[in-house]
Amino acid sequence: MTRLTVNGRVRVFRGHPFTRLVDVLREGFGLTGTKEGCGEGECGACTVLVDGQPVMSCLVPVCQVEGRRVETIESLGGLERLDPLQKALLEEGGAQCGICTPGMVMTAHAWVRRGGSSRPAAIREALAGNLCRCTGYQHIVDAVARVVRERDRRRGDAKRPSRATSRTARRTGRHR
Ligand code: FES
Ligand code: FES
Repeated sequence: MTRLTVNGRVRVFRGHPFTRLVDVLREGFGLTGTKEGCGEGECGACTVLVDGQPVMSCLVPVCQVEGRRVETIESLGGLERLDPLQKALLEEGGAQCGICTPGMVMTAHAWVRRGGSSRPAAIREALAGNLCRCTGYQHIVDAVARVVRERDRRRGDAKRPSRATSRTARRTGRHR
């Protein structure tokens, strides 16, 4: 029996401890958003996050994630409400056949969340383990860069004092 947290929910897998994580997610838990491509650790299609880090779930026996936190594409947006990355990929033309997309989104999600930069070269390096045979990568890189810039803009806005606060600070001479 293997206990793990998937998308914030504690799940128990009662099968063989060496069952591949991708099979546990897809067949055991019905989370079919995670895709299998090569099945050999080469393509990245099966990428999920384990404790926030991208891993290829076709290479990981479920016993290795006992007690750990797994995030799959289902933890992000759905058709009714897309995650910013999904929206950007769609609008920039970064998703075509879509086989690579869930894994690509999870790797990019980890990148955005841990403060990765919007430099195209850095994004290409971060996504190097995720292969795409359709897009030529440029549209994917553009989409990720756009989401990173949006993140940075939001963080900048959050740090900047509101107009009312700065007016009060000017009047009172008190700055925090
Ligand atoms: S299916 Fe896991 S790396 Fe290709
Ligand atoms: S969109 Fe087809 S493999 Fe990436």
